Amino acid sequence: MANRKFIVGNWKMNGLHDQLSDIGDIAAIASEHKDIDVAICPPTTLIAPAAEKVPDFMIGAQDCHSAANGAHTGCLSADMIRETGALLSILGHSERRADQHETDADVKAKAEAVHAAGLGAIICVGETEAERDDGKAVEVVCGQLEGSFPEEPSADWLTIAYEPVWAIGTGRVPETSDVEEMHAAIRNKLGKLMGDGADAVRILYGGSMNGGNAAALLAVPNVDGGLVGGASLTAEKFGPIIEAAA
Ligand code: G3H
Repeated sequence: MANRKFIVGNWKMNGLHDQLSDIGDIAAIASEHKDIDVAICPPTTLIAPAAEKVPDFMIGAQDCHSAANGAHTGCLSADMIRETGALLSILGHSERRADQHETDADVKAKAEAVHAAGLGAIICVGETEAERDDGKAVEVVCGQLEGSFPEEPSADWLTIAYEPVWAIGTGRVPETSDVEEMHAAIRNKLGKLMGDGADAVRILYGGSMNGGNAAALLAVPNVDGGLVGGASLTAEKFGPIIEAAA
């Protein structure tokens, strides 16, 4: 049976309080499509006001520290994130793996912290263009997945996002046959890592998804939703993606 689709907007480092109205507009569209799940992960500064503005809509964070507290200047724990009103956190996004040098082990620890706090986790994996050109995309992605994989995995709280690094923010999208191959490989790897229950873990595609290509990407076997950056910033752009999933 197909999994319920999950469409997540990652606002990255975009959005001031003025943009809360966009989250309101997006939540209104999502409320018309009860057969799918929709979330927005705004910058941390907007999580609490967004959760207050649209209490029935899913708001998430973009990162979380693995420690419960302590001397980690500028960081937020999972309990702190939960207190803001967030229900989940993106973890191990390729931008953080590159900019903040996050390792698979870091991502695994973060996922376990998020789970312990009662939040959902979206663990991101993806190959660089050089790795794909070398024919190593599946090996790299499955290796990241294994290294980042938490204890006590369950589809109740865990989601995987496949984001080819070279497709993020570039307007370039893999062939659907390549997306199909990778999502099948991820599903197979999930089966090896967690056995029964792997089929229910949602695997999102991310990388230049937009209103024009969403329907085709979401129709690919084992694509259970999308992790959307630039096209999630307004209801005008994100609405068609939500509608394509519904
Ligand atoms: O988290 C979202 C992804 O990095 C995709 O970003 O849709 O702007 O390519 P994009």
